[in-house]
Amino acid sequence: MSNLKVSVAGVEFKNPIIPASGAFGYGREYEQFYPLSILGGISVKGTTLHRREGNPPPRVAETPSGMLNSVGLQNGGAEKFLNYELPNLATKDTRIIANIAGATVEECAQLAGMMNGTAVDMVELNISCPNVKHGGAAFGTNPVTAAEITAAVRKATDKPLMVKLSPNVTDITEIAKAVEAAGADAVSLINTLLGMRIDIKTGRPILKNNVGGLSGPAVFPIAVRMVWQVYNAVNIPIVGMGGIATAEDVIEMMMAGAKAVQIGAALFSDPFALVKIIEGLNEYCDANGIKNLADITGTVKPW
Ligand SMILES: Cc1cc2nc3c(=O)[nH]c(=O)nc-3n(C[C@H](O)[C@H](O)[C@H](O)COP(=O)(O)O)c2cc1C
Repeated sequence: MSNLKVSVAGVEFKNPIIPASGAFGYGREYEQFYPLSILGGISVKGTTLHRREGNPPPRVAETPSGMLNSVGLQNGGAEKFLNYELPNLATKDTRIIANIAGATVEECAQLAGMMNGTAVDMVELNISCPNVKHGGAAFGTNPVTAAEITAAVRKATDKPLMVKLSPNVTDITEIAKAVEAAGADAVSLINTLLGMRIDIKTGRPILKNNVGGLSGPAVFPIAVRMVWQVYNAVNIPIVGMGGIATAEDVIEMMMAGAKAVQIGAALFSDPFALVKIIEGLNEYCDANGIKNLADITGTVKPW
């Protein structure tokens, strides 16, 4: 068996496989099928200061090779996360990434501060949600506001800070460099790409929110390209995501520059995808004589 351990911003993960925020909840449903301890970590559903109902349905739609969602950060709020979900997750022998989002800089800083002294291993600041009216991608599409919010959250928390970037920008490396300079310990990318579908019988958008975020295999080449670009632009570690569905996709994303990966949409079509991917990584390493999977990061040989 090869060594699948990876380290991101000083946090050790037993393997690089992390279910993506919003696709796995807090693991309660999946735990009925396999132990959460097989996972490198879990990025929990986006947590906001107060409980949110999210957007009205329909808010998910299937697309060729992917899905659109406009869930809109539905969650029980920070207190519920800290008092109900976190104590349960803390018993699971896996790393816990608290994904947080807020409408203002102050709200995000307050949320990050609430994670101090808890079992959370890392804070993932979402500045890239395309489905909320305030905050979200509004912060993450401008290097100045991205830096401002990163600096405030960095100051508020003593946990390693990972900032989650939006692909809905002209040049993602500008945002990555801005958050690195503002104190981010890592970046994660990509969040969903803004998309839209229309029911031609009714002339109405399929999603009640009109637009939503596209994810799944359809976005994989875009995610690989962006991870590679960011890898060449910053010195902080990258957690790559967007369309990963197989162990081979994980290897590709790591070759592009990711130290670890998150997986979202694939879980909707195969609830056992994470188990199969971890098995597949072991098989890949054995077949290719790879002793330490971590050595693969950034090994692409560009022409
Ligand atoms: C239903 C759904 C809900 C999501 N909710 C969140 C969220 O709360 N916070 C967040 O940062 N990203 C959220 N995302 C984005 C994913 O974490 C991930 O960045 C994106 O889906 C790309 O990965 P994938 O192609 O593997 O799904 C959500 C994605 C989906 C499909």
